[in-house]
Amino acid sequence: MASRPPWVATAEGTAAAFLGFFRDRGHHVLPGESLVRPPDDPVLFTTSGMHPLTPYLTGRPHPLGVRLADVQRCLRTTDLDEVGDDNHLTAFQMLGSWSLGDYGGERSLLWGYDLLVDGYGIAPGRLHATVFGGDGQVGEDVVALRTWERLGVPVERTTGDNWWSNGPTGPCGPDSEIFVWTGDGPPTGSPASDPRWWEVWNHVTMRYRRHEDGSLTELSRGSVDTGMGLERLVTVLEGVRSVYDSEVFADWRRLLPSGWTDGETSWRIVADHLRSAVVLVGDGVRPAAGGQGYVLRRLLRRALTLLWRVDPGRSLDGLPLPLVTGTLRRFGLPEQGCERVAEVLPAEERRFAVLLERGRRVLRQPRFARPPTEEDYAYLHDTHGLPRDLVDQLRREGGAPGEVPGTGRRSAGDPR
Ligand code: SER
Repeated sequence: MASRPPWVATAEGTAAAFLGFFRDRGHHVLPGESLVRPPDDPVLFTTSGMHPLTPYLTGRPHPLGVRLADVQRCLRTTDLDEVGDDNHLTAFQMLGSWSLGDYGGERSLLWGYDLLVDGYGIAPGRLHATVFGGDGQVGEDVVALRTWERLGVPVERTTGDNWWSNGPTGPCGPDSEIFVWTGDGPPTGSPASDPRWWEVWNHVTMRYRRHEDGSLTELSRGSVDTGMGLERLVTVLEGVRSVYDSEVFADWRRLLPSGWTDGETSWRIVADHLRSAVVLVGDGVRPAAGGQGYVLRRLLRRALTLLWRVDPGRSLDGLPLPLVTGTLRRFGLPEQGCERVAEVLPAEERRFAVLLERGRRVLRQPRFARPPTEEDYAYLHDTHGLPRDLVDQLRREGGAPGEVPGTGRRSAGDPR
């Protein structure tokens, strides 16, 4: 059985090993890009390593060659409801490798197996794979299926899953997902039946382009796009229960006391959201009523709501500096960003406190004893600056004085 090399104990060492492995196999290492996508991108944030590489996956030659690798900071709001479980994060780092019309899916999977087993020391018996089983448009991924069978890794064909795209149109193709067993005893069941199988790495053969009408055409050259979640990988290698118990969150565990929240799930959500907010501000995002800034605002408001449930006086002014600098560093952002974080987070907190106070006052009016109509929402928004989600939150959480989180914190006339 393979043993775990000592350097995998940190996310930094784990990422360096990934990049070294692919560099040794002729890949050029790219710097990661911003989380913020340009205005012509229909998606607000970089959601995967391949996202900034989309033009090159559809045929444009890349100036640095046909084999690439990187570590890319990503942000996904689609998983927001799952944050708080053992392995979903809003902001995370993705380890990625690409073959732009060079080697194919089999080569990629064989290297993937080598890196996981020989490089990271994961016992082969802890691996499981899934492959695209075919649908009305594209046949099953025979190459991936045969590769896993040859390696002796249990593999399942799926129908609905195992197809990857970064939106309704654009490059896409069948993917093969690699799972690692995280349970205490020997592996049981399969990824479909047991959540202790964690998906860590996804290998996509980008062979198609999806058009507006849903049809597919073959790309002039097929590519391979792989992505592995760094935080999940570190957790698996450490053998701990959740990403929040891994080295990645060690500083957060130490410096964000558990007593600041009312339980483990709340703590995880607060840590995740504040960490994501730090990365967003570090990447230049400011709270706003729309776009990227609105996502930042919502993350901060959710974190504050949970913090104020325990202590209405808790302030983001008190967020320990090492959490901010450490997070910026891990995500490849300049540490000078901590000054901006120190301005933006408390300013947004004050704004939220004022809004909550106003919302509480307004919602006490008799006309809001019943569920608001569309007209009410428009009035609350236009006249009192209360967005719909905040109105709903206040109503859900009581709406009465003293029951609304954070409302006891400061008076509306004291925005500091
Ligand atoms: N694009 C794929 C993913 O995000 C593999 O990189 O999972």
